[in-house]
Amino acid sequence: MDFAKGSVRLRVQPFSSSRPSNPPPRLQARPTSRWVLPKWLVACGWAFHAFSRAGRARAWHVCRSLTRLMANDARHHPSALRNRGPILEVLQDVLADKSAKEGHVLEIGSGSGCHAEHFAPNFPKLQWQPSEYVQEGNTSVLKDIDEVTSSIPNVRRAVALDASAAWADWPSQVREFEGQFTAVYLSNITHISPWKVTCGIVAGASEALENGGLLIIYGPFKVNGEFTTESNADFDKSLRSRNPEWGYRDIDEICAEAKKNGLQFEGKREMPANNFLLTFSKTK
Ligand SMILES: C[S@@+](CC[C@H](N)C(=O)[O-])C[C@H]1O[C@@H](n2cnc3c(N)ncnc32)[C@H](O)[C@@H]1O
Repeated sequence: MDFAKGSVRLRVQPFSSSRPSNPPPRLQARPTSRWVLPKWLVACGWAFHAFSRAGRARAWHVCRSLTRLMANDARHHPSALRNRGPILEVLQDVLADKSAKEGHVLEIGSGSGCHAEHFAPNFPKLQWQPSEYVQEGNTSVLKDIDEVTSSIPNVRRAVALDASAAWADWPSQVREFEGQFTAVYLSNITHISPWKVTCGIVAGASEALENGGLLIIYGPFKVNGEFTTESNADFDKSLRSRNPEWGYRDIDEICAEAKKNGLQFEGKREMPANNFLLTFSKTK
């Protein structure tokens, strides 16, 4: 039975005695759609109220950060984007104690800034110093790194660094922290540069690091004089055809160079895609 009352209809639901388990008759107030705001409009109103000015500002900030991150990803090499997750996991382990106190990390050959952008926010007490090899005065590579990392408070401006140079020629922004770096980090450089670059990295790291500081080298290497896979042997061949001074280094060769410079081999971690992460610590 329906009673029309203004904009509201009252309906008494019929009671059936044959089904005692049924609920008792109820009076239901059913608004007619004519007088009621559509539900979606009410929801929008609530959302607008809840979405305060501060909320809107936060959402804008989140959207802008996401857009920026997506834009940055487009600047990075896909392999650098792929490997930075697994590398970070290992860095969090090897730097666990050291990153609890203030310090500095020097990254050599930062490329597009893909790793600095991902790692630095995870080590807020460490000042991350990106660097890149600048050829023929083309400093746009440094600008590119700065653009990617500009919103990260513990990343310093990228500096030009030719790692094959003597320590005296490394940039002043690095030399001013001589003997104070917590870590020197590099990825995928030793096989795509002449051997003198690896020697320069090891010698420079030994000057830059504090006692107990770590030289951390990620990349593909030979182990005991052998390639670990056929695809690595093929890649080495293609690198050498592009530049006879390039090519895979043997882990033992790097260890020997490190030892000469007062850096002790701590160990190697196997990483995805047949890469390794090597760590060396500075001893007195
Ligand atoms: C394959 S890219 C790796 C870039 C970045 N580290 C990454 O993993 O995405 C090789 C890097 O080695 C750097 N490099 C080559 N010769 C160098 C040198 N003499 N000193 C410093 N970096 C050098 C290049 O500039 C380049 O950034």
